Amino acid sequence: MGNVVITGSASGIGLAAKEKLESQGDRVIGIDIRDADIIADLSTPEGRQHAIDQALAMTGSEIDGLVLSAGLSGMNTPGDMTISVNYFGTVDLFDALRPAMEGRPNPCVVCLVSTSSRFVEFDDPMIDALFEGDEAKCRAMINTMDKGAGYRYAKHALARLIRHRASEWAPQGVRITACVPGMTDTPMVDSLKEDPELGPLLESMTSPMGRNGTPEEMAGVIAFLLSDAASFINGTMIWVDGGQDARDNPDVF
Ligand SMILES: NC(=O)c1ccc[n+]([C@@H]2O[C@H](COP(=O)([O-])OP(=O)(O)OC[C@H]3O[C@@H](n4cnc5c(N)ncnc54)[C@H](O)[C@@H]3O)[C@@H](O)[C@H]2O)c1
Repeated sequence: MGNVVITGSASGIGLAAKEKLESQGDRVIGIDIRDADIIADLSTPEGRQHAIDQALAMTGSEIDGLVLSAGLSGMNTPGDMTISVNYFGTVDLFDALRPAMEGRPNPCVVCLVSTSSRFVEFDDPMIDALFEGDEAKCRAMINTMDKGAGYRYAKHALARLIRHRASEWAPQGVRITACVPGMTDTPMVDSLKEDPELGPLLESMTSPMGRNGTPEEMAGVIAFLLSDAASFINGTMIWVDGGQDARDNPDVF
């Protein structure tokens, strides 16, 4: 039981995680652009700073868990906004809030990555720019690319940064992990199902189990990653996709 800060707490996976953790007795502080304890726009540096300041104030700088679920699909929003929310809205928060997690009994960050993180080359100038952290440059670069670029680049860079931070932070005892959902029935996915081009494509991405995941299934894994049962799990991404990745990449692990 402890203080858990969750971004994207108003909907989908973030909301399910909030409900699950509260039912276990945790105190959850939600951050979202609407319907949350802390209303903040994570697409801007000012909004992120507001979220950070409020989270520190509301927890007395004692944070046990941090779940970063706020995100945009990138299909109905501009690429620059997607990269700002999905990448900078995650990285800026975990870097700024990590000191408030040091010294807690089993502190852990859980990020939401995506199976689309696989669709980027490891050696790519966009990834280099994201690691450099120049948001204006990244926003300009992403706007020259295709519609889905903001989403997949953000998730790929995040997947790698988690591994870097895991070893950097281990001496301070702060773990960082990720849940990688396969297609999960949330308002984000519902909005894409209605798109005449994307709808049929999504159908073809159904997991080998013949169904999509539920937000509650993701919340269960998030709660596990934050729990004492996961106290030696660090830098690990758990794929929660009904076997989709195993089907698509049977000889890669
Ligand atoms: N649903 C899926 O199939 C799926 C698959 C892989 C990864 N993910 C990831 O899981 C996370 C949660 O997705 P979801 O499906 O629950 O989506 P969702 O749309 O249901 O929830 C996303 C939340 O983020 C918030 N948000 C968006 N822009 C914001 C901003 N500028 N500032 C603050 N909050 C903002 C929204 O208000 C919303 O509450 C996302 O990071 C998404 O990329 C989802």
